[in-house]
Formats: sequence, C-alpha cells, structure tokens
Amino acid sequence: MKFGVCYYPEHWPEARWAEDARLMRELGLSVIRLAEFAWAKMEPEPGVYDWGWLDRAIDLFAAAGMDVVLGTPTCTPPAWLTRQHPEILRVDGNGRSRNHGTRRHYCPNSPIYRRFSRQIVQQMAQRYGQDERITGWQIDNEFGGGKTARCYCPTCAGEFRRWLEKRYGNIDTLNEAWGTIFWSQAYGDWSQINPPGDDINYKNPSQLLDFYRFSTDSYVNYQQEQIDLLRELAPGRFITHNFMGLYLDLDQFDLAAPLDFITWDNYPTGFPDRWRQMLYPPGVDSSRNDPAYAYDVGDPVVQSMAHALMRGLKQRPFWIMEQQCGHINWGDVNPGIRPGTPRLWVWHAVAEGADHVIYFRWRATLLAQEQYHSGLLGHDGRPDVGFGDQKKLLAELDQLNQLSVAPLDAPVAILFSYDDLWSLQMLPHRRDFHYLRHLYIFYHACLRLGINVDLVPATADLNRYKLVIAPTAHVADEALAQRLHAYASGGGTLLLGIRSGFKTTSNLVTDEPLPGALRDLAGVTVTSWQSLPLEQAIPFRSSIPDFAGDATYWVETLAVETAVPLATYQDGSGAALAENLVGNGRVLTLGFYPTPQQARTLLTHLANQQAIGTLPDLPSGMVALRRGGVQLLLNFSERPQAVTLGTASHTVATRDLIFLPAKTPRD
Ligand code: GAL
Ligand code: ZN
Repeated sequence: MKFGVCYYPEHWPEARWAEDARLMRELGLSVIRLAEFAWAKMEPEPGVYDWGWLDRAIDLFAAAGMDVVLGTPTCTPPAWLTRQHPEILRVDGNGRSRNHGTRRHYCPNSPIYRRFSRQIVQQMAQRYGQDERITGWQIDNEFGGGKTARCYCPTCAGEFRRWLEKRYGNIDTLNEAWGTIFWSQAYGDWSQINPPGDDINYKNPSQLLDFYRFSTDSYVNYQQEQIDLLRELAPGRFITHNFMGLYLDLDQFDLAAPLDFITWDNYPTGFPDRWRQMLYPPGVDSSRNDPAYAYDVGDPVVQSMAHALMRGLKQRPFWIMEQQCGHINWGDVNPGIRPGTPRLWVWHAVAEGADHVIYFRWRATLLAQEQYHSGLLGHDGRPDVGFGDQKKLLAELDQLNQLSVAPLDAPVAILFSYDDLWSLQMLPHRRDFHYLRHLYIFYHACLRLGINVDLVPATADLNRYKLVIAPTAHVADEALAQRLHAYASGGGTLLLGIRSGFKTTSNLVTDEPLPGALRDLAGVTVTSWQSLPLEQAIPFRSSIPDFAGDATYWVETLAVETAVPLATYQDGSGAALAENLVGNGRVLTLGFYPTPQQARTLLTHLANQQAIGTLPDLPSGMVALRRGGVQLLLNFSERPQAVTLGTASHTVATRDLIFLPAKTPRD
C-alpha cells in the first residue's frame, strides 16, 4: 500500500521544495498529486505555455522516490479565458452567469470551453504522457463540487433540447412522457423547451429528472473527451477522477464507468455535517453529531456508508485521493483533530476497501480561500497532527499492506439508484422522507451486525451477493424486473421495500397495481399505502422471532398473490411482509418503513437463514469491519470499550483499533 500527498508547488517558493521532499520521504510518502488547479500557471497567456516549474517539481519529487499523479487543471479556467469568452461561464438556475475568482466556473457543454480544455489537456499529455515517472492522471477535480452540477446557459438549453430529441424522437412522445397535458405545458416543438431553472416554481418531475440525467451525461461526455486524449497520449497510465462520497447531484456510477478505478475525497468531520440531516432518523437531533462518537472523529457509520457507495461505483477497491489529516475549513464547526484520529481514519478507509491513501494537503496554505484548512505541516512548515500519525502508520505498514490487498467480499448489497433518489427528492410526499435516510436504516443495521455491505446499481453483478436489499426500487421497468428476477431465481434473496415500482422511467406514476413492474416478482399487490404522522402506528405480528410491534411512518398493505405472508397487520387489512419463492431463490416484500430495531431484527433473521455471519451487539461508538481474513474492531468513542466475541473479551482504547483473525472463513 502506498501513502501519498497532494502538493501545490506553485504555492511555495521553489527554494522550499527540497525540504518538503525530504520530509515526505521521512514520512514514507511515495505518491504525489500535482497540478490540478494550475492552469493559469501552465498557460499564463493564450497559447503561451510555462512548463519549467512543473518539470522541475516532477524532477525533484520523482528523484525523491515518488510516483507522480497529474491532475488536468480544467476545473479552473484562467482569467484571460473567462474574460475573452464570458459565455463559457456556468449559469445558475436564476440565469445568473457565475464569475471568475473561484473554481468550477465553467459550462461543460460550451464548445469554446471544450476547445480550450482539449488544448490544455493535449499540451499537458504531449509533454508528460510518456514520462515514466507519471503513473496516472486525475481528470479535472470533483465534478459537480460546490453545487455546480447543473448549468442553465443558452448552450446547455440547446444541448438539452438535442438530448431530448435523441431520447424521444418526436415531440408528441416527449409530451406524453412528461405528462405535459397537465397545466397546459404541452410543447409544439423542441425550441419551446427550457432547462427547468429557478424561474419555474413547481417544476414538472419528468422534465426535471431528464434534466438531471442530461446534466450527468454532459459531464460524462466532457470527461470522455479528456479520457480519449489521455488514452492516446498517455498509454498505459491509469485514468481516474476524485469522487465525493454520498454526493447527490450527478450520477456517480455513470461517471465512474469509463475510469480505470475510482478515487474519492474522504473528509470524516466535514461530510457528516452535510449528510446526517438526511440520514439520521426523523425525531433524532441531527444538528449535531451522534454523541456516541468522540468530538473529532465524525460519524463512522455515515463515513462507512460513503465508502460502501464508493466501493460500489465499480464494485472494486479504490484510492483515497484526498484524506483529511487534521481540521478542515468547510464544515459547521471544524473541530481540532487530536493525535490518533487521522490514523484511525486511515485504518477505517483501508478496512473499507482503500488500496492507497493520499493526504490532503501537504502544508496548510497561507493563501486565499482555504487558509483555515490544515495539512500534514502547519502554516509555519512544522509538523502538525497528521504528520505524527503518519509516522505511527509507517510503523504499521506490514499489517496495512496485508489488509490493503485482501479481498473485500461483502455478502450483502443495497441497491442504489440516482433515478430513485432524484424522483423521491422531487416528490417525497412527506417532507422528511429522504431516499438516503431510508437506505441508511438498512445500511446501519447491517453495519451494526458486522456485515459488510456494498451500495451498487441494479446493473451490477448481483450474483455475488447472498442478500440484495432494494429499500425503494421506486422507478421501475421490465428490464429492472427481469434483472431482479434473474438474481432471485438463481438462488438469491431479495428484500424489496416500500414505494417500489411506483414510477415509470419517465417519472410518471404507473397505471398498474403496485408494485407496478415488480408485481409478479414480489407476488403481492399493494392494496393501500399511506404516510403516517409520527405518533400513529399500526401494530403487526409475525412468524419471525421478535419481529413484531408497530408499523409507523409509511405503511403499505399487501395482498398476497403467489407470495405467502410472514407478517400481518393486526387491523386485519393484510400482510406487512410477504415471501415469494422465485426459482431457486425468493423475494421478500416489506410493507412498511422499519425502525432501526425492526430492521436489525429482520436482517438478523435473514442473515441467519443465508449463513451470513453476524456479530453480537457492539458498544455504541464501535464499528466492526472485515477485510479478507481480518476482523477489525474500531473504537470511535471517547472511552475504552470492551467487546466480547465468542468467549474472548477484547478492550479497544479510545480512537484506536484492534484486529483479529475472522471467525468464519467467508460469509
Ligand atoms: C476538496 C477539494 C480540494 C480541497 C479540499 C478541502 O473537496 O478537492 O481541492 O478544496 O476539498 O477540504
Ligand atoms: Zn451551460
């Protein structure tokens, strides 16, 4: 396993570089990422290139034994370009053109921008593509970061129309697919259609879903242009991009598909601030982190879920391209980070599938927007917290090496679909319904049971999983039904949740009885569905041990067709859980939104049936993960914790971990 660091030679006097290289060696860092924001330095004037500084930086750091990863600098078009061609600037939903002075201010569809972007990538790749010291390339930086996923400029409007024409062929088909007879929205020709910006209240969900898909395709195409150039000019080098965990605005599966592997930017104290509001159960105070965790570690379950999605993007391990190593500057509080915490994060990442870990950043910047962000070195160039922790990790390199090459075979998959997420985001029906909050209940329950989970699209190879959970397969068609049918009939167990099969792929409601296209597969019909106020409940009873109590929040009544009921509502309305045998496997349909405890009980039962190993209840603040033959117990709490596994008791110090041989060979 390699450790590395993101470095900005352009931020520091050249006279300092050698000392930095020396300290990097001392830390065992052997990968350096350079240049992803340095366009203005590379091309200070149109067509005038200055590579001297980058040549010298590569010479120096490669000589210090480091592999170089180059970032294409296209997320930061220089001022001469935005001044000369203001039409390349991204336009927000209010029709305002964003301005120079930050990053991600370009429109991915602008033909002019595309031309300049190709030029800089080509120049860079011609110069460094064959250089054996450059082992790989990162394209751009965090597509869609800082709420920039969508552009509403005239070019995008035109491209959107063309995209729709290609998808629907003629305008009547589009009118039907979008239900435009409603409120007289009907379009007579393509030119009448606009991107659904903030100048429209109550947007049409079919139009919106297509616009979101179009926005993803825009970046996919833009990225592909760079991939094509790099494949040609930098043969044999890896091509990747740095993703953003539980990021919602672009379909990360589509962006990941053409890359060799994915990397992601792991900020454990920043992301919970953004994500826990949509993950923590309703009624739980999500304004602050779960008090079970130490104040400077973030929320490890949230973080694990992000790792699981990142692993699921290509169903394989990944790199951390930016690993938080001290405090950051963009969360709510940005707590100070104590020694021991960065080490715990790195172990956590490797246990979740990271092959290599690159820190962000080398030294805290004196300049501009990120002045309050820490690095391995402080502003003054002296070692900061992460520096000390990396030394500790160096001493553990043997174990890390072993863990980082071990297979990570999760026995359970949770299906993740951006169409479902977006469709439910647009019309959640109840305001606190969030697609991810619902997923999180199942994810959280699995993790607490010590079961590794991948978050994957339905198009992934599902046969490798013993249990597939589709908490809400909301947008469904025949193709999805067939895929899930193939999985179940091949011997798999599928757990299907509420609100499934409700929508067509154009985001209209199905006219079939629910769960629509998935009805045969489920062997049930949903005869009623309702959202319940928090204090309301419908009791249910079940043949599954301990699985009884109140159905709350969202309740659907199931009439069994080919399925048999495993749980029934006590008001006599029908089944609450039903099982349908399909070929060599089965499909279970759950009719309500489970509480965390109900999810745990049900999943324990299913895991036992499927011979998936589980762990006893862990103290809160502890996370158990398995990679290869190793069982890791990580303590994210403020206190030492004792864990009993079988007959043995283990104590794990605060913000520390232990590893044991895993008990069962492979689940
Ligand atoms: C990342 C970004 C980096 C830096 C970092 C700060 O999202 O890729 O360039 O801004 O955040 O935490
Ligand atoms: Zn645009």
